[in-house]
Order: sequence, then structure tokens, then C-alpha cells
Amino acid sequence: MLKTLILGLLQATGTFATWSAYEEYMQSHSMKAHSHESNRPSLVYSPHRPYKKMHDSPRRHKKCVVKSHNDFKTDDSSYVLHAVEKCNDGGHVVFPEGTTYVIGTALDLTGLKHIDIDIQGYVQFSNDTDYWQANAFNQTFQNATTFFQLGGTDVNVYGGGMLDGNGQAWYDLYAKDIYILRPILFGVTGIRQGSVSDLVFRYSPQYYNWVADSESVTFDNIDISGGSQSNNPAKNTDGWDTYRSTNIVIQNSMINNGDDCVSFKPNSTEVVVQNLHCNGSHGISVGSLGQYAGETDIVENVFVANITMENASDGARIKVWPGAPAALSGDLQGGGGAGRVNNITYDGIKNLTLCNQFPSNLTISNIKMTNFHGSTSDKYSPYSGYVVCSSPTVCKNITLDGVNVVSPAGATNMFKCGNVDTALLHNINCTSVT
Ligand SMILES: *[C@@H]1O[C@H](CO)[C@@H](O)[C@H](O)[C@H]1NC(C)=O
Ligand SMILES: *[C@@H]1O[C@H](CO)[C@@H](O)[C@H](O)[C@H]1NC(C)=O
Ligand SMILES: *[C@@H]1O[C@H](CO)[C@@H](O)[C@H](O)[C@H]1NC(C)=O
Ligand SMILES: *[C@@H]1O[C@H](CO)[C@@H](O)[C@H](O)[C@H]1NC(C)=O
Ligand SMILES: *[C@@H]1O[C@H](CO)[C@@H](O)[C@H](O)[C@H]1NC(C)=O
Ligand SMILES: *[C@@H]1O[C@H](CO)[C@@H](O)[C@H](O)[C@H]1NC(C)=O
Ligand SMILES: *[C@@H]1O[C@H](CO)[C@@H](O)[C@H](O)[C@H]1NC(C)=O
Ligand SMILES: *[C@@H]1O[C@H](CO)[C@@H](O)[C@H](O)[C@H]1NC(C)=O
Ligand SMILES: *[C@@H]1O[C@H](CO)[C@@H](O)[C@H](O)[C@H]1NC(C)=O
Ligand SMILES: *[C@@H]1O[C@H](CO)[C@@H](O)[C@H](O)[C@H]1NC(C)=O
Ligand SMILES: *[C@@H]1O[C@H](CO)[C@@H](O)[C@H](O)[C@H]1NC(C)=O
Ligand SMILES: *[C@@H]1O[C@H](CO)[C@@H](O)[C@H](O)[C@H]1NC(C)=O
Repeated sequence: MLKTLILGLLQATGTFATWSAYEEYMQSHSMKAHSHESNRPSLVYSPHRPYKKMHDSPRRHKKCVVKSHNDFKTDDSSYVLHAVEKCNDGGHVVFPEGTTYVIGTALDLTGLKHIDIDIQGYVQFSNDTDYWQANAFNQTFQNATTFFQLGGTDVNVYGGGMLDGNGQAWYDLYAKDIYILRPILFGVTGIRQGSVSDLVFRYSPQYYNWVADSESVTFDNIDISGGSQSNNPAKNTDGWDTYRSTNIVIQNSMINNGDDCVSFKPNSTEVVVQNLHCNGSHGISVGSLGQYAGETDIVENVFVANITMENASDGARIKVWPGAPAALSGDLQGGGGAGRVNNITYDGIKNLTLCNQFPSNLTISNIKMTNFHGSTSDKYSPYSGYVVCSSPTVCKNITLDGVNVVSPAGATNMFKCGNVDTALLHNINCTSVT
């Protein structure tokens, strides 16, 4: 019984390339190891600038090369910790191209400052699911855990290398037990001023990126892909989840997954998401909010622009829990919280449409969805979308403009509409439902 104001319904998918991540890495990287530093990428913000200006990092003055056993089995974590400690406060840590690393220990990489982490090599997290369940870092939201946690001031991560979450063991284990704690591949837990760019992420056990308690962080040119090679699907593999964070930019990236491309969790404000190609995803979602009774969840000032959705089940969704507790599944239950979703703009989504909802204590206001083009699957034919709010007092100022979405058996822009001001739904042919 999620209350949702959903846009977008295309066929969901779930098949992925079958090469192993390391073979893929070898195809595009030199195996002749060297320890040159990469140049820090200079980030360009277009078409939209961040809500607040991002700071430039000063030059780094020392270099620390991360050693490796380079044998695909011995844990290299202590080498990583050593290099990061040595180069903290003004240094440049290099994982050389062509070198392989195994991470078998949860790494606390918080308390960093003025550091560049240059990952050119191939980094694989071990598949010791018992170890990680006991030792991965517990985040407070939705039982999320992370392989490592990265936090500090003025932290940049880049280099063109690959992080491989070794997800298959987790996909298979989760099929047997939904209560296992699957680590998130890239855990940002408190960065002020930083960037994560030019990296390849493969086979995360669950979300690819967790961005919590952070401010002024840019993600640029991240290549995400992964999926299960058994019959057990790779579940909850969101591209990014933002939480208690502000002034975040996510841009210029390719995401091949089977869940939300980007999801704005509670207290995500001033977020720009642009120039993404999302393939096989559940779209770009606000929420789910209001999961915890007594909490106030805010998602405000979000700008989403120029997103290509390929084979997505949904396009742009706003999901909030009902005003009273409910259970979606054993490991996902909640409801009863309060809050607001305000000033959200989706501009330029290709291949998209709209959906539905139920009651909640959150308000949804000042939502603008413009320039949606494409066609839907026949799932909800002849309708190509829904804008249905549970109650007229909950949703305010929801505008649709420049929508041109056709469903196979219907005309263009046939929508189900309810409890919203249809005068703001430009060129939408509404069938009233309440
Ligand atoms: C969509 O997914 C299906 C499998 O579910 C696949 O056969 C098809 O090639 C995909 N379409 C595109 C455009 O990627
Ligand atoms: C999208 O995913 C499908 C498989 O679901 C794949 O065939 C297709 O090549 C992907 N598209 C791109 C642009 O990678
Ligand atoms: C995280 O929580 C789980 C389950 O509550 C527990 O088993 C695990 O030891 C905790 N991890 C840490 C590092 O405390
Ligand atoms: C967290 O996991 C416990 C069991 O380990 C489960 O009862 C609870 O519903 C989960 N919470 C969420 C928010 O998923
Ligand atoms: C874990 O990886 C090792 C090789 O490092 C492999 O032999 C083993 O089968 C894997 N276990 C699982 C459950 O995938
Ligand atoms: C979100 O922000 C509201 C308002 O500042 C606050 O009451 C709430 O505790 C915050 N929630 C979390 C999870 O930090
Ligand atoms: C829109 O995003 C695509 C990548 O998905 C990019 O190639 C294109 O340049 C972007 N368009 C604009 C106007 O920024
Ligand atoms: C709403 O968001 C837009 C950008 O999406 C921003 O320019 C504007 O300042 C925000 N409005 C308020 C009242 O903060
Ligand atoms: C939800 O709203 C109703 C009516 O506005 C109120 O009585 C109830 O206490 C609210 N619940 C929560 C958890 O805020
Ligand atoms: C409606 O929302 C848009 C942003 O989506 C905002 O620019 C506009 O000022 C709002 N109008 C009213 C009457 O609040
Ligand atoms: C919509 O997707 C189909 C295939 O998935 C593609 O052929 C078509 O070009 C897309 N339309 C737009 C407007 O992107
Ligand atoms: C709106 O849709 C109805 C069918 O539900 C159709 O009869 C009508 O002609 C459509 N109006 C416009 C303006 O497209």
C-alpha cells in the first residue's frame, strides 16, 4: 500500500552481459603496471549548475602507491589503509593500472582530508558473505550496510579503474534468505566537498552508491552494470541513494541495473541529476518517504534533466508510505511518518509516462515534469500515464508540460487523473479517477 504519484511505465528487464568483470577490465586497460598519477578530472556542469558552487581542491603534494599481493586471493586491505593514512592531508593515493586488489576487510575511510584516491586498477570485494554480514558498516536506513565508508573534507576519487562487488554470491544467498545484509558497493558517509568520477562499478550486492550525511559532492562519468547469471535476480541494485545530504550532483553516467536509477531518500535537498542513460531501471524516484513513524522526511529542490530511460519499468516516481504502518514484504515495512516533497523538476525524460497512488501524511508540492517523450509498453494501455493523488489536500501545484507519450492501443497522452488540478496538466487527456 505505497502511496505513489508515479510517472512512467515501460517494460522491465533483467538480463545482463555474462563476461566477468575482470575480463571486461582487461579489455580496456593496460596490463603493464605503472604508477603514474592520473590527472584529476575537471568537472563540467551542464545543462544545470549545482545549487551551490563546488569548491576546487588544492594540488596534492605527495604520492602513495598502494601495494598488492596481486594474486586474486590474499586480502590487500591493510595496504590500502596504510597508503591512505600515509597520504591523508595533502596526498595522492594511486592504485596502479593493471594491478588487482582483493578487499576482504571492512575499511573505515572516514576522517580524511585533502586527499585524492586514484583507482586505476581492478578492485574486487571478497565473496565471504559471513564475514561481511558481521563486519560491513551498518548504516541506519533500511538495514543498509557498506563494504567501506568514506568520509572527510575535500576528497576526490577517480582514475578509470573498476570496483567489482562480486555480487553473484549475494544474489544467490538473498534468494534463500531475504534477511541477509547485503553490502552497498560504494559508501559515502559524510563527505564535505568531494567528487567521485571516471570509475566503473560492477556487480554490487545491492545499491551501487550510498550518499549519506554529505554536502557538495559530485558523481561524474560512472559506469554501472551488473546482474545475476543464475536464476536468482540481482535485487535492490539502485544506482544511487541519497540520504541526509545536500548539494549533490549526479551526472554523465550510464546505469544498467534492475532497480531505481537514482533514488532520493529522506532529507535529500538541492540535488541535480543530469545526462544519465538508465537501462532496465525503475526510473528516478523520490522515496519511499514516511517509512518511520515519528520522523519527518524532506525531499526538496531537486532538478532532474536529460535522462534517457531504456527498458525502464517506470520513469519518474514519487513514492510515499501511507499514514499508518503497513508491510510491503518481510524485510520492507513501515509507514506513519510525515514530511514533504517540494520543488521537484523533471525536465527532459525520454521514453516515459505516468502512474498511481494511495494515502499518506506527506505533502507533494511544486512538482514540474516537462519534456517527456517516448512510448510505453502495453501494460496499462490505452493509458500512457497516471497523475493520481490520494487526497486533494496532499498534492499541490503539480505541472505537466511538453509531454508526448503514446501507448500502443491508445492516443497520445491519455492519462488517469485524480485529486490534482487538471488545468496544470497541459495537453493531457485526463480520465478522471478518484
Ligand atoms: C529490453 O529488454 C529485453 C529483455 O527483457 C531485451 O530483449 C531488449 O533487447 C531490451 N531492449 C533494449 C532496447 O535494450
Ligand atoms: C540495455 O540492456 C539490454 C539488456 O537488458 C542490452 O541488450 C542493451 O545493450 C543495453 N543497452 C545499452 C545502451 O547498453
Ligand atoms: C551490523 O548489524 C548486524 C545485525 O544487526 C550485526 O550482525 C553486525 O555485527 C553489525 N555490524 C557491525 C560492524 O557492528
Ligand atoms: C531490518 O531487518 C530486520 C530483520 O533483520 C527486519 O525485521 C526489518 O523489517 C528490517 N527493516 C527494514 C526497514 O527493512
Ligand atoms: C568465492 O570466490 C572463490 C574464489 O575466490 C570461489 O572459489 C568460490 O566458489 C566463491 N564462492 C561463492 C559462494 O561464490
Ligand atoms: C530530516 O530533517 C527533519 C527536519 O530538519 C528532521 O526533523 C529529521 O529528523 C531529519 N531526518 C533524518 C533521518 O535525519
Ligand atoms: C544528454 O545526455 C546524453 C547522455 O545520456 C548526452 O550525450 C547529451 O549530450 C546530453 N544533452 C545535453 C543537452 O546535455
Ligand atoms: C526550486 O528549484 C529550482 C531549481 O530546480 C531553483 O532554481 C529554485 O531556486 C528552487 N526554489 C526555491 C523556492 O528554492
Ligand atoms: C497523519 O495525519 C493524521 C491526520 O492529519 C493525523 O491524525 C495523524 O496523527 C498523522 N500521523 C502521523 C504519524 O503523523
Ligand atoms: C509551482 O511550482 C513551480 C516549480 O515546480 C514554481 O516555479 C511555481 O512558483 C509554483 N507555483 C506556485 C503558485 O506555487
Ligand atoms: C523509446 O524506446 C524505444 C526502444 O526501447 C526506442 O526505439 C525509441 O527510440 C525510444 N524513444 C525515444 C523518444 O527515446
Ligand atoms: C480523449 O480520450 C477520449 C477517450 O478516452 C477520446 O474519446 C477523446 O477524443 C480524446 N480527446 C482528445 C482531445 O484527444
